[in-house]
Amino acid sequence: MVKAWYMDDDKNDQRAEHHRNPPQFVSLDELYKKTGVEYFSLNVDTHETDGVLDKIKKDRGYTYEDRMEASKATLPNYEEKLVAFYTEHLHTDEEIRFVLDGSGYFDVRDRDDQWIRIEVTPGDMLVLPSGIYHRFTLDFNNYIKVKRFFIGEPVWAAHNRPSDNMDARREYVEKLTKGFVAAC
Ligand code: LAC
Ligand code: NI
Repeated sequence: MVKAWYMDDDKNDQRAEHHRNPPQFVSLDELYKKTGVEYFSLNVDTHETDGVLDKIKKDRGYTYEDRMEASKATLPNYEEKLVAFYTEHLHTDEEIRFVLDGSGYFDVRDRDDQWIRIEVTPGDMLVLPSGIYHRFTLDFNNYIKVKRFFIGEPVWAAHNRPSDNMDARREYVEKLTKGFVAAC
């Protein structure tokens, strides 16, 4: 089950939990209001046939899907990829990840530019809105297997911060200002 909390710094190993002391947890509602990140809970064993994922794909127009396994043995250029994943960036489209196996942390900036760390485990599906600054790291298990989705032809390009003048960023900031609640 997904859990999220505020983190202050990453001076030590990026794979650690890095919560505040005492921990300041963030509910899924709060996460959505502060970042626009959406969450779905799926059944890993039955998702191909139970209709829940199919409905999400249909509703949201996800026409592309593939799998990505991040482990030293299976991900080409593992070390470089991990550095790139953990470099703060944005995309011009949603980043959609459904965890099949393993675990990891998605860090997203909230409206006050604070990091929120989202722990994902099997069954968790996250949708990061286009234009949000974020990063990803494996945890000490060093392993995650995800399904990635996309509307149309995938664009994997990551634009490192600062990318404040990009349309996707401007549109995201505008949505943040207006409020994600009103948008749904
Ligand atoms: C990505 C994630 C790791 O861009 O942020 O694929
Ligand atoms: Ni990304």
